[in-house]
Amino acid sequence: MADLEGLKVEKNYHLNEPFAAKGDFHVKGMANQEWGIKKRLSNIFNPQSGSTVMFAFDHGYFMGSVSGLERLDILIPKLRDHVDVLMATRGALRTCVQPDCRKAIALRVSAGSSMVNDDLSHELVSVDIEDAIRMNADCMAVQVFIGADGQLESIENLSKVINAGMRYSIPTLGVVAVGKNMERTDQYFKLATRIVAELGAHIVKTYYCDKFEEIVAACPVPIVVAGGKKLAEKEALEMAYKSMQGGARGLDMGRNIFQSFHPIEMADAIGKIVHQKFTDKEALEYYNDRINV
Ligand code: R5P
Repeated sequence: MADLEGLKVEKNYHLNEPFAAKGDFHVKGMANQEWGIKKRLSNIFNPQSGSTVMFAFDHGYFMGSVSGLERLDILIPKLRDHVDVLMATRGALRTCVQPDCRKAIALRVSAGSSMVNDDLSHELVSVDIEDAIRMNADCMAVQVFIGADGQLESIENLSKVINAGMRYSIPTLGVVAVGKNMERTDQYFKLATRIVAELGAHIVKTYYCDKFEEIVAACPVPIVVAGGKKLAEKEALEMAYKSMQGGARGLDMGRNIFQSFHPIEMADAIGKIVHQKFTDKEALEYYNDRINV
């Protein structure tokens, strides 16, 4: 293939041009979807801001009782009114979230590994579509391990969940996983997010990195950004701000909220960035004012 080398064309993400197939719906790439999908996506993405604050507390599905999530029954009632979406397992939801809660639900439906495994990439679909319907899930979340040993099975899981969800108009959130040995570069995230979107996921969750705006431009569905390991509040807010500036449609944040000394104030500060266009500095000021009263 050496004779093709000189033909390589430089990529052009058209960063100054907005998504061209917007149609009349506020969620990127979803204008041609069915009514039920749009209804659920509207429960997730605020129709006014077009964005969302997801609170992820599904870590127990492979990490057990991580710091900050030891008592879901105490934490969740305090936090739930400060976010738009609760992302959790069915076990956590049924036991610790009251069904009168009006928040959108992102139901974790893949499982299979735990922190004692070196390779976390081998999962299966752990929740039937019937149970997702019973729980009135607004989307189903599946982990996807591109480039890992479990790539094929995770793509099979994602495809199964999307196929089942499409029968009943439940969107799928594809969660791009980063294993211990997987690089966190824009090349990797461009590859993984685009694969997940092309396979039919309605929302893609990934991490912030350099050239994030190119990742967003090349992904035809909304991207929400995971928080990752706990950072100082200032850094976490900066990451949230840069993500939104780079075109993310929200944050799907766990540890940077529930491991904060002030989880409610942190969730509110993230909400200010996501829905009210606060800068990271304004959000930090807001956070500091709130914790010092
Ligand atoms: C991890 O696999 C889970 O999907 C978490 O929901 C996700 O990592 C977001 O939580 P955090 O902000 O703590 O990374």
